[in-house]
Amino acid sequence: MRPPKDFFKPLAVGAPAPVHEIPVKPSRMIHFFPPSNTKMVSKVPDIAPTVDILLGNLEDGVPSDQKEAARAGLVEVGKTVDMGDTQLWTRINSLDSPWALDDLTTLVSEIGAKLDVIMIPKVEGPEDIHYADRLVAQLEAKAGLTRPLLFHAILETARGVSNVEDICGASPRMQGISLGPADLAANRGMKTTRVGGGHPDYVVQGDPPVADDGSVDIHAERTRYQQDLWHYTIARMVDACVTHGILPFYGPFGDIADTVACEAQFRNAYLLGCVGAWSLHPKQITVAKKVFSPRPEDVAQAQRVIDAMGDGTGAIMLDGKMEDDASVKQCHVVVELAKSLSARDPELAASYGF
Ligand code: GLV
Ligand code: MG
Repeated sequence: MRPPKDFFKPLAVGAPAPVHEIPVKPSRMIHFFPPSNTKMVSKVPDIAPTVDILLGNLEDGVPSDQKEAARAGLVEVGKTVDMGDTQLWTRINSLDSPWALDDLTTLVSEIGAKLDVIMIPKVEGPEDIHYADRLVAQLEAKAGLTRPLLFHAILETARGVSNVEDICGASPRMQGISLGPADLAANRGMKTTRVGGGHPDYVVQGDPPVADDGSVDIHAERTRYQQDLWHYTIARMVDACVTHGILPFYGPFGDIADTVACEAQFRNAYLLGCVGAWSLHPKQITVAKKVFSPRPEDVAQAQRVIDAMGDGTGAIMLDGKMEDDASVKQCHVVVELAKSLSARDPELAASYGF
């Protein structure tokens, strides 16, 4: 075990010192683009200002014969596109693939100073993070980088979920975790063929109606309550991330046309503590922006409670509801989020009256 005093020492001579805190930046959507597709790459300068995070995807979704082209396309984007204050991330290929080593070597060496976060897929335990941690430190030192790259793991195997706390705490580079519902479903043997979202068969069945004579008709029409397949995993991921001071995200929602269901799934994640989700299509950028920005009426109500609570201690009644030291903390979460998003989004700031 690394002693606590060594935890923040660089893992290679000349590598930048690890960060003590994850920088808090608007992170409502991680927008995926395939850097092997020249048409998509040409749109990057227009899309970048509309998203919080732009991610060049090298992993699943990129055909194996286009892996090198995708890597080269991302290097080109990193070298030529002015990202403004939008973060540039990449998702590299999994550590057991034939491409991961070249992904890391090329990206850190060529565009390490432009990249904010490296998303690592299929992370199974802290040993995966330790491997990448030392390797990236060596590459950073060689490239003369002065700012350390951060890591984001995808939670997409049963073993990864079992080890999620250790993954979050494996390195000061850990910035966050995303749920990867497609790979996770496959790995766990879940019987859904959808990419994220709910399933009409995952329900709790209401009780059957009881007739006046006390008889029960189990075949009568009754209410079915659809449940959230991802509730357990998201809640567990949020606790692990918050424990370690890093950020939890919902991952992909594959039914691009169904923006209503996408919004519902993103909202569940938002309410449970996630800061953002992936967007796979411009339609989902709009959904994520809406869901992961607190509603103006919620911000106004939270501010009202904060104002009414004075120094934040004690208990008061407001509109018939009890507010106290704990509920005012909930209100601060909402107002702080609104303020940090407003710093980047003047339209949002105006809607909050900031
Ligand atoms: C994402 O990578 C997923 O597998 O859902
Ligand atoms: Mg996956």
